[in-house]
Amino acid sequence: MNANEMGRRASRLDIFIARMEAQKAFIEMVAGMIDGVEGPIFELGLGNGRTFDHLREILPGREIFVFDRSVTAHPASIPDGDHMIIGEIRDTLAFCAPRVGCKAALIHCDLGTGDPTADLAKAAWLAPLIKEHVAPGGYVATGIALDMDGFEEIPRSEAAELGRYWLYHKPK
Ligand SMILES: C[S@@+](CC[C@H](N)C(=O)[O-])C[C@H]1O[C@@H](n2cnc3c(N)ncnc32)[C@H](O)[C@@H]1O
Repeated sequence: MNANEMGRRASRLDIFIARMEAQKAFIEMVAGMIDGVEGPIFELGLGNGRTFDHLREILPGREIFVFDRSVTAHPASIPDGDHMIIGEIRDTLAFCAPRVGCKAALIHCDLGTGDPTADLAKAAWLAPLIKEHVAPGGYVATGIALDMDGFEEIPRSEAAELGRYWLYHKPK
């Protein structure tokens, strides 16, 4: 039974669990949708490396470039040097094209802070940058709502709403 059904507000633990469920469900759903879309995956936010590890497990043939300002992941979840792009994403995403060579089939963005003001500020510079790097037919799964012209938002499940997760598609 969820918090709503029990007549109480969602606690931070409820929201965290919903977020992890939505994140995993989205990643797995999108993994099945990018079959016909060429290009690598961009993982924005290595963190502990959990979602990077899940992505490489479910999409073994797909190249994954990971962006973070530093490497603090579990030792078993660190990309090789060619695929770990270290620095402020505002800079590295803007200038990664010569290194990655093509646009991404999927950008997974896990940079949300949970603070609505900080996330709005981040979305303002992130949305135009992300938009620039998605291949036609590609997807963006993100923990921050992004306003991107030319993209359609895939309707969210209740779990995704509670978990603060959004999915966008760039039509071909
Ligand atoms: C929530 S964690 C990512 C968790 C990760 N997806 C996982 O499953 O373990 C967010 C990460 O994004 C990085 N990050 C946040 N804002 C950034 C920025 N502007 N530039 C570079 N890295 C950033 C942080 O250093 C942190 O490691």
